[in-house]
Amino acid sequence: MLVTTKEMFEKSMREGFAIGAFNVNNMEIIQAIMDAAAEEHAPVIMQASSSAIKYARLNYLMKMVKAAEEEHPEIPFAIHLDHGPDFETCKMCIDAGFTSVMFDGSKYDFEENVRLTKEVVEYAHSKGVVVEAELGKLAGIEDDVNVSADDAMFTDPAQAEEFVRRTGCDSLAIAIGTSHGAYKFKGEAKLRFDILAKIKERIPNTPIVLHGASTVIPELVAQCNEYGADIPGAKGVPDEMLHEASISGVSKINVDTDLRLAMTAAIRKVFAEEPSAFDPRKYLTPARDLIKQTVQHKIRDVFGSSNKA
Ligand code: G3H
Ligand code: 13P
Ligand code: ZN
Repeated sequence: MLVTTKEMFEKSMREGFAIGAFNVNNMEIIQAIMDAAAEEHAPVIMQASSSAIKYARLNYLMKMVKAAEEEHPEIPFAIHLDHGPDFETCKMCIDAGFTSVMFDGSKYDFEENVRLTKEVVEYAHSKGVVVEAELGKLAGIEDDVNVSADDAMFTDPAQAEEFVRRTGCDSLAIAIGTSHGAYKFKGEAKLRFDILAKIKERIPNTPIVLHGASTVIPELVAQCNEYGADIPGAKGVPDEMLHEASISGVSKINVDTDLRLAMTAAIRKVFAEEPSAFDPRKYLTPARDLIKQTVQHKIRDVFGSSNKA
């Protein structure tokens, strides 16, 4: 059933697990995520960035979401705008039937972020839609989400409290050391769990969101490279850290890069092993299967959301 994130987040905070939020761009990815969630009987979030919406086209996307709902009525899932850049994009998605939107004002100064977030919250709430906001800056470079490492700034716990109070946002994305893309850490992976704990102390009832939280699964990177890719030195957030985050008050964990790697790894393997194959179903079927397997692993072994639907 298509729902907002309100109840699933309440349950996640009560029971100490996280909901996987997976980026979608096409039919195969949507099917893989929903099939994985159904098999695990897990609540799930499908999210689309504005560039994903441009690619898939809003109308097609919403029709596929409807199809997913019809196929899996027993699974509570949200369709969420990832990194909404402005009020207009948020409004477009709310009006189209999204159940949750993110307004990403992290590139603005605090006061401007408060002001712009509030505008989105007012409109969203009047339509029964929930809003994720962001405070603090993630390091790293990924398409439209582009903040130089020098600018990286962890979320300040006192500011987080003030921000949530003044904006009325429903959940908050924080910066504690993650970043978007396949190159998150030069040396050892390190997350500031001390900052997370301080934020939770101040806003215990606000669901916390972790962006840039792909593991950059080494086996998937290796499979890509084995079959001709050039992705050297990629590194993400280890499963153990994501599990710790899941039981320490993080309610939503965002994953895009790992799904991109899964899709690429599967397709590259078919292309390398069967150079005469040119029926798209020949390579999109294993791609969908590997995405499903990746999502299922996260839900079951890392986030703890199996059987929480
Ligand atoms: O955080 C960003 C997501 O990975 C979406 O990336 O804008 O290339 O769709 P995208
Ligand atoms: P990754 O690049 O680590 O998958 O992060 C995705 C994300 O945060 C989407 O908003
Ligand atoms: Zn993100």
